[in-house]
Amino acid sequence: MKTVYINCSPKKKFSASSYFLFLQKLFVRGKKVSETLRGPADHGRILENIKDADAVVFGLPLYVDSVPSHVLRFMKEMECFCKEENIHPCVYCIANNGFIEGSQNEPLMQCFENFCSRSGLPFGGGVGIGGGVMLNVTRILFIVDIALLVLNTVLSIVNTGAFFSKEAWISFGENAALLLYFNLGVLYYLGRMGSHISKGSCAGKKYTRILIPSFVFILFADVFFIIASVFEGGIFRGWLAKKEIEKV
Ligand SMILES: Cc1cc2nc3c(=O)[nH]c(=O)nc-3n(C[C@H](O)[C@H](O)[C@H](O)COP(=O)(O)O)c2cc1C
Repeated sequence: MKTVYINCSPKKKFSASSYFLFLQKLFVRGKKVSETLRGPADHGRILENIKDADAVVFGLPLYVDSVPSHVLRFMKEMECFCKEENIHPCVYCIANNGFIEGSQNEPLMQCFENFCSRSGLPFGGGVGIGGGVMLNVTRILFIVDIALLVLNTVLSIVNTGAFFSKEAWISFGENAALLLYFNLGVLYYLGRMGSHISKGSCAGKKYTRILIPSFVFILFADVFFIIASVFEGGIFRGWLAKKEIEKV
């Protein structure tokens, strides 16, 4: 069986969609083909790959409570293509959003259901993931955790001659367990959908989120966006700058 995974994030690197698609692939058997959709130049290549696929998995961000416009454009072309070629791959969807509630992806899921019904394709279901940006950061933190383990092991060899540092491993284990906990909802639902993709059956629509309380999420999100604003255009993005008054 062949599954085509389409990363629909416009970001070239480190998109949350690429993270969730990576996790999804771990749970699906058979041939896996990865594609990226950023614009019309990608359409022909992706459609050619879909021709003999049993399943197509869209990984995409939620934009303004719906499907990003460049993906809508592709869906229109895919509808015609599937009808012309008389092909019926099962369509699955992994949507993620910045806010914490995964259920915000429901309108997007409905767009995919409507697209499938119009194109004569079976809709295999999807997973809507809240706190996508923060979950994406957990994979970077995991790499930092590994780097710290290596550093602590080197320091332990230099200082005491011992290769195995108990403290370093305990600290690594604690951090890794915390990061795993944040991702548990995502892993559960992607694992569940993976088994449906392998069988070609319908997984239904499921919603999950990063497993932290909302008030903690808001606190971290505020700090994150203040830091992001400083790096990407100055604090408060010119709110305090003198404004030109437009004369009518
Ligand atoms: C133009 C735009 C619109 C967005 N609209 C929403 C939205 O309506 N609700 C939401 O929760 N997040 C929204 N987001 C945040 C993205 O869904 C979020 O950053 C997502 O994790 C990006 O996924 P990616 O890294 O795979 O591109 C929006 C982001 C952008 C750039």
